[in-house]
Amino acid sequence: MKTFFHASDIGNIAKAIEEAKQVKADPFAWKSLGTNKTIMIVFFNSSLRTRLSTQKAALNLGMSPIVLNIGQDSWKLETELGVVMDSDKSEHLREAIPVIGSYCDIIGVRSFSGLKDREYDYNETILRQFIEYSGKPVISLESATVHPCQAFADLITIEEHKKTARPKVVMTWAPHPKALPQAVPNSFAEWMNAADVDFVITHPEGYELDPRFTGNAQIEYNQMKALEGADFVYAKNWSCPGVKDPSKYGSILSKDMGWTVDAAHMAVTNNAFFMHCLPVRRNMIVSDEVIDSPQSLVIPEAANRVVSAQVVMKRMLEEML
Ligand code: CP
Repeated sequence: MKTFFHASDIGNIAKAIEEAKQVKADPFAWKSLGTNKTIMIVFFNSSLRTRLSTQKAALNLGMSPIVLNIGQDSWKLETELGVVMDSDKSEHLREAIPVIGSYCDIIGVRSFSGLKDREYDYNETILRQFIEYSGKPVISLESATVHPCQAFADLITIEEHKKTARPKVVMTWAPHPKALPQAVPNSFAEWMNAADVDFVITHPEGYELDPRFTGNAQIEYNQMKALEGADFVYAKNWSCPGVKDPSKYGSILSKDMGWTVDAAHMAVTNNAFFMHCLPVRRNMIVSDEVIDSPQSLVIPEAANRVVSAQVVMKRMLEEML
């Protein structure tokens, strides 16, 4: 596996889940795989879970993780090609990436969408430069359009808690004060489509996600109807993906607090588990009552970020043997 970007990169999903179970049961069993190997974990944006879980997964595999916060630990980097570099950005990605690549064996990159230029974001302009210029395997740690380590951890969590062979999983949009990227819902949709679940997406009109990620998933604009009989409720905010109207890309179309997942929403489900990738805005995305309930999986979901990252790095290391 040279890149971890899409669900298809992991190959057979059932096999990946089985491997995740093995890794979780015995996390140090592959400690020798990473001996004398280094992962560079590059952040253009803030993080709590990704920053810690990726390092922990690397340590479990015997690797040395190095974290680089671009613009804080390093020079500010220019990401656009062909520009006159007369701004505060002192170095170009074109030099920085091969330099970073020369110091490590695997690179993980967090680079959020700017939510201004849909084409720039949806071409994964930054991540693709890492793939092209580093010469090393590259993991998206939430890039402009995808967050595969999160979606894989979400799927592992669903597998661990499901009570029926094919559970109903509902991803619901929920309100947020700031415009957020579509990476998490894009990847969640992509991974749920690849998994053996009955998947439904619900959001206000105008928030349609890119069909490259949603595929044939059922879209239901009536949130309560969508939630009926759900086994898992996955809440997330995202800004306008600009699918129907590109001029609205990245904008907030609604702050309707009627979409906040509360006890009334959970009451129509099949005693569903509640999921969110975190960080979460309490009483915007989800009520205190729901996130603090025994049905909330937000902490085990975050803990599984170590497992998903470890499976991905393990596979990359095995290919280096
Ligand atoms: N879910 C997630 O990626 O969390 P962080 O942004 O804190 O890494």
